[in-house]
Amino acid sequence: MSEARGAAAEIRQIPLAKPWLGEEEVRRASEVVRSGWLIQGPHVEEFEEHFAAMVGARHAIAVNSGSSALLVALAALGVGRGDEVICPDMSFIATATACLFLGARPVFVDIEMRYSALDPGRLEERITKRTRAIVPVHYAGHTAEMGPILEIAERYGIATLEDAAEAHLARYAGGRFAGTLGALGIFSFTPSKPMTTGEGGMIVTNDEALARRGQVFRNFGDHGKFNWSELGFNFRMPEVMAAIGLGQLARLEESVRRRREIARRYTAALSGHPRIATPVERTPEDTNYQLYTIRIRGGGAEASRGAAGRPRAAPADRDEVARRLAERGVSTRLYYPAFHHQGVFRELGPFDDADFPNAVEHERTALSLPIYPGLMEEEQVYVIDHLLDVVAE
Ligand SMILES: Cc1ncc(COP(=O)(O)O)c(C=O)c1O
Repeated sequence: MSEARGAAAEIRQIPLAKPWLGEEEVRRASEVVRSGWLIQGPHVEEFEEHFAAMVGARHAIAVNSGSSALLVALAALGVGRGDEVICPDMSFIATATACLFLGARPVFVDIEMRYSALDPGRLEERITKRTRAIVPVHYAGHTAEMGPILEIAERYGIATLEDAAEAHLARYAGGRFAGTLGALGIFSFTPSKPMTTGEGGMIVTNDEALARRGQVFRNFGDHGKFNWSELGFNFRMPEVMAAIGLGQLARLEESVRRRREIARRYTAALSGHPRIATPVERTPEDTNYQLYTIRIRGGGAEASRGAAGRPRAAPADRDEVARRLAERGVSTRLYYPAFHHQGVFRELGPFDDADFPNAVEHERTALSLPIYPGLMEEEQVYVIDHLLDVVAE
């Protein structure tokens, strides 16, 4: 019997993600509740200032979710009916549905296999006269290939909006922070992120005019004193969320440091395994390891047909690995299936899997492992041992 099998006698339950909150957040949130000043108060302003300073942006605009941040940022760029917005074929759904809400059409580009982000080599072929914005996504907290993406965007005079929802404190090529390289960047603060406010989001930019437009769209399109000259949203961040966010900002660097440490341990134990591909780093600072996503090699490589006759990624050994790990208490998940397989985009099709081979491969083989600051060393070892055991079966 292997060691892992022996350890399985006492099965642990290990979630995929867990927020890291402390007394400081409790104190700050309680203060807000006691004050009775629940919206448009000093905490949101302070949170914006501190967040902007942390990532080196001139302006930060706090909103009530990352999805809201995407909508506000796209609206600030003037994206609307008839426009096209280019994004990768693999991300969280909000990246692309934000375009649909504004009447624009998301145009999908395949991902590259190193960082699982928008492939700059496939970008130019999707640019048309209608392209209004390019939205690279820093998947799993790994920065996308921003150098070539920005070069192409600038050559065509198209704005870049970075979806840095997962990429707090990641630095592109070890330099500027994710979210500050394009015209605008957005972040999410849901509980699985390196910092959380429950729900919450942030838009950052160095452009004064875009910042002003963002503030207007976040607040009903109000240009001041009930002057509603544009269609806006109510996406303001409540004070309690900003208070929690201020507490979380204080521990963000440590949160990311711990994630990188866990990732180092995982990679040291798993890399070189014939059935496991571990994440690739451009530099250690290029990623915050919001997710630790491996690929499971081998098994059902052929494409199959879904119930509607639509080509779909075949269920692979990955699903079996996930199932067996779940039996041993280890939560894992596919982040994310390909956009062009999602029913919500059916009217944009038909799509051909052959245009998105890497996103299809990702959908078939990717598996994210538990990672969060409170994941104890023995739990990391438990995940590693059981994964190695399961892939050997
Ligand atoms: C890449 C990406 N974009 C957008 C979002 C949307 O953020 P939220 O869930 O805060 O609305 C998320 C996260 O959940 C995400 O991971």
